[in-house]
Amino acid sequence: MSRPQPSVSLLIILLSAAALAATCRADPDPVEDFCVAAPGAGASNASMAFPFLPCKPASTVVPDDFFFAGHARAASTDNPFGVGVTPGNVDAFPGLNTLGISINRVDLAPGGVNPLHSHPRSAELVHVEAGEMLVGFVSTDGKFYSKVVREGESFVIPRGMLHFQYNAGTAAARAMTVFNSQLPGVVIAAQSLFGADPEIPDAVLAKSFQVDGDTIKLLKSKFRNG
Ligand code: GLV
Ligand code: MN
Repeated sequence: MSRPQPSVSLLIILLSAAALAATCRADPDPVEDFCVAAPGAGASNASMAFPFLPCKPASTVVPDDFFFAGHARAASTDNPFGVGVTPGNVDAFPGLNTLGISINRVDLAPGGVNPLHSHPRSAELVHVEAGEMLVGFVSTDGKFYSKVVREGESFVIPRGMLHFQYNAGTAAARAMTVFNSQLPGVVIAAQSLFGADPEIPDAVLAKSFQVDGDTIKLLKSKFRNG
C-alpha cells in the first residue's frame, strides 16, 4: 500500500513555518560546539562585533570559561530609580559567544523601577526569584500588557517592546531576565530621548511631546551629564 503524499499546500505551510522560524531567531546558529570569546574581543570593539566575537583557541578553553559568578550578589539599588541591573551578556561572560543566550540579574528596592526600555535584538523572559514585581510592556498597537509577578513566576516580553519592572511589594525584589541573544542591546527610553549626546534639539522634543521648552529643559537636566 502506498503512503499518502503530503499535499502541495501542506508542504508550502511547512516550508513557510521553517522559513519563519529561521528568520525570527534572535542570533544565528552556532557552527561549532563553542567559541569562547577571545580576551579583549568585547562587543565594544565595533570592528569585531558581528555576528559573533572571535574565539580563543579551543586548546586554551577551561571550565571557568563556562562559569559566571557575577549574579551571586545584588547590585546596589542606591540610586534615584532604586534598581540594580547586573548584565550577564557576552561582554561579561565570554563563554556565551555563539550560544544565542544571555541573562541579567535585576534587583529592585521597594518602590524601585527598572525604567522603560527595550531590547532591539531579543525577547526577554522575566523570572521573579524574590518579592513581587509589576512587569509590563506596550505593544506596537499601543496596548499595555502587565501583571504582578511573584516569586517563582515568569512573564515574557516580546522582542523590541518597551517594558519595565516595578517593585510593587514592601521588601526587596529580585528577578533573573533571560534573553535569546548573547547581546540583546538596550535602549533606555528617557535616557535616549533626554540624555542623548549630542542632544536632541528642545524644539524637536517639545513638539514631539506637545509640551513647552521649559518642560524639556527640566527633563534634560535629569538625564544629561554636566
Ligand atoms: C530587564 O528588563 C532587563 O533588561 O534585564
Ligand atoms: Mn529588559
